[in-house]
Amino acid sequence: TVTCRDERFRLYLDEEAISNRIAELGAQIDEDYAETDTPPIFIGVLNGAYIFTADLMRAVTVDCEVDFYKLSSYGEAKVSSGTVTERKGIDADLEGRHVIVVEDIVDTGLSMRYVLDQISEKNPASLRSAALLRKPDALKVDAPVDYLGFDIDNLFVIGYGLDYGQIARNLPAVYILDEEEGE
Ligand code: PRP
Ligand code: MN
Ligand code: MG
Repeated sequence: TVTCRDERFRLYLDEEAISNRIAELGAQIDEDYAETDTPPIFIGVLNGAYIFTADLMRAVTVDCEVDFYKLSSYGEAKVSSGTVTERKGIDADLEGRHVIVVEDIVDTGLSMRYVLDQISEKNPASLRSAALLRKPDALKVDAPVDYLGFDIDNLFVIGYGLDYGQIARNLPAVYILDEEEGE
């Protein structure tokens, strides 16, 4: 069972730090999309981004829409498989839309790069990206982030949507897994 009290987990970003930063990102998005002809649409990348997408969207006050894309590259492993598998496509018609891709984390950058490439082909009016976390030292491909929460160290992080073998997504803050305590 995973709980915040698990001794292997060390608090890395608390709830207040996360919500304060998201409020700032929301205000920035409000400013950037105040004048657009059509409401921006957030495309959350499932599963990891579901919580950040919900919180980011509620920090925004301009009219906006949401839809989801589902990918997986990590599976049960703690390192990227190096290939991105599409699990669910995007239903929304993104042609001519102002799209903001939302990820929980940009690690190697492969997932974000994949989504940006796929959506570019749909001829959006504009395309930007948001990520709560980014690991600059793990980046392998160019994966721009327009709305970034935090740059973090190259550590395995969980909670706030991020999983460890599919569990721990429900932890309310971001934790690091202490390797010395074993798996
Ligand atoms: C994780 C995370 C990002 C991606 C980042 O997803 O949620 O989508 O990996 O890693 P990358 O930059 O190296 O591509 P994962 O594949 O674990 O699926 P999940 O969102 O369902 O947990
Ligand atoms: Mn993911
Ligand atoms: Mg995962």
